[in-house]
Amino acid sequence: MENGVFKLRKEHVNFKKLLSLFDKQLDLLHKGKPSDYRLMADILYYMTQYTDLVHHPIEEVIFKLLAIRDPGVVENVTELTKQHQTIGNSGELLYKKLENIINYESDIKKSQEIEMLGRLYCSTLRIHMDKEEQSLFILAERLLNNDDWEKIRSDTETKPDPIFGEAIEARFHLVCDKLAQPTSDK
Ligand SMILES: [Fe+2]
Ligand SMILES: [Fe+2]
Repeated sequence: MENGVFKLRKEHVNFKKLLSLFDKQLDLLHKGKPSDYRLMADILYYMTQYTDLVHHPIEEVIFKLLAIRDPGVVENVTELTKQHQTIGNSGELLYKKLENIINYESDIKKSQEIEMLGRLYCSTLRIHMDKEEQSLFILAERLLNNDDWEKIRSDTETKPDPIFGEAIEARFHLVCDKLAQPTSDK
């Protein structure tokens, strides 16, 4: 099996692209301009269905193994694993709030709350990913061998990435259109 960290790093690049799109919508909210709640909800849906359910569990299997190999990283592993929970919960909450606005409510009273929760979500996830890239990912590349990666693969479940994988799921077409636009038009 190829070094699994390579895939995780690639996924972080993808997640950061989505967070940038999300940030742009928050900037519009901040300026009182119309923002695309559907786009924001779809990004959050991806985060809760792929990042939280596929990417994070794979990391947790890797991190557990690292904690056995190097007890010095136990604290870091515990902290990053807890953050997965926090990120999952706040992503789900924000997703539900966005769907509520789309389906039932006017955005006028809610825009400040969405902006605040959205900024917090984006910064927490960015800081989390940076910390992984600068600590446990480097350690995993150093400490884990081919047999470890084989075992990790057999101990984890995966599913195709619905945005960046081979087939784009229909509900993410809007997100993909936005990703494909030149930066100035996003
Ligand atoms: Fe993570
Ligand atoms: Fe990660």
